[in-house]
Amino acid sequence: MGSSSAPEHRRQLVAAVALILAVAAAVAPLAEARRKTVRLRVYMHDIVGGAGQTSVVVVKGPGPANPSMSPGNNFGDTVIIDDVVTEGPSLASREVGRAQGTYMLASMARPVFIVDITLVLTDGPYNGSTIVVAGRDDTSEEIRELAVVGGSGMLRRASGHVLWRTAKVESKLHAVLELDVHASVPAAAVAPSGSGSGSHGHPLLVTSASE
Ligand SMILES: *[C@@H]1O[C@H](CO)[C@@H](O)[C@H](O)[C@H]1NC(C)=O
Repeated sequence: MGSSSAPEHRRQLVAAVALILAVAAAVAPLAEARRKTVRLRVYMHDIVGGAGQTSVVVVKGPGPANPSMSPGNNFGDTVIIDDVVTEGPSLASREVGRAQGTYMLASMARPVFIVDITLVLTDGPYNGSTIVVAGRDDTSEEIRELAVVGGSGMLRRASGHVLWRTAKVESKLHAVLELDVHASVPAAAVAPSGSGSGSHGHPLLVTSASE
């Protein structure tokens, strides 16, 4: 008896350790799989006048004038946009969405805009979904970082950041901005809409729904 119980205990211990390792191995990928990476690079055409204008000053800031910018740019200037978004830097490249929202000259001393836009995608894998971008655009910097603060559809509850860069100045009236989107969405966001009950079986959906 005594001689057989030691190997038995050992077997149980080995089995217990194996179980713990198996659970740990299963949990780690699940935790990562709960968010899905979203990477996009698109170009936004801000056309402030002339043919194809998509950007309009809705509030002329009462001032003071911003000394870092050309005359006529006042603290508080607010612009509303419905800019064309294309897959390449050229306006002639495929249109994949629109960037709708506002930017406001929100620094008294520096060429800084506070941006609040929603990107609606009309082509590609996220057709019909939106991504909401907000943040500070210091135009004196080569690359600016703005926040992805949300989204809808397949991009519901998106979070991350956008590397925002002036890719090209086509003319005094037409600037091309590159939006390099680094974001993620909960894995459940790709589930069909209305599946919030968590009754759809897949453990990932249940876990995410309880967040
Ligand atoms: C995008 O979605 C709209 C609305 O569902 C549809 O009409 C259009 O054909 C889609 N475009 C592409 C390129 O899939």
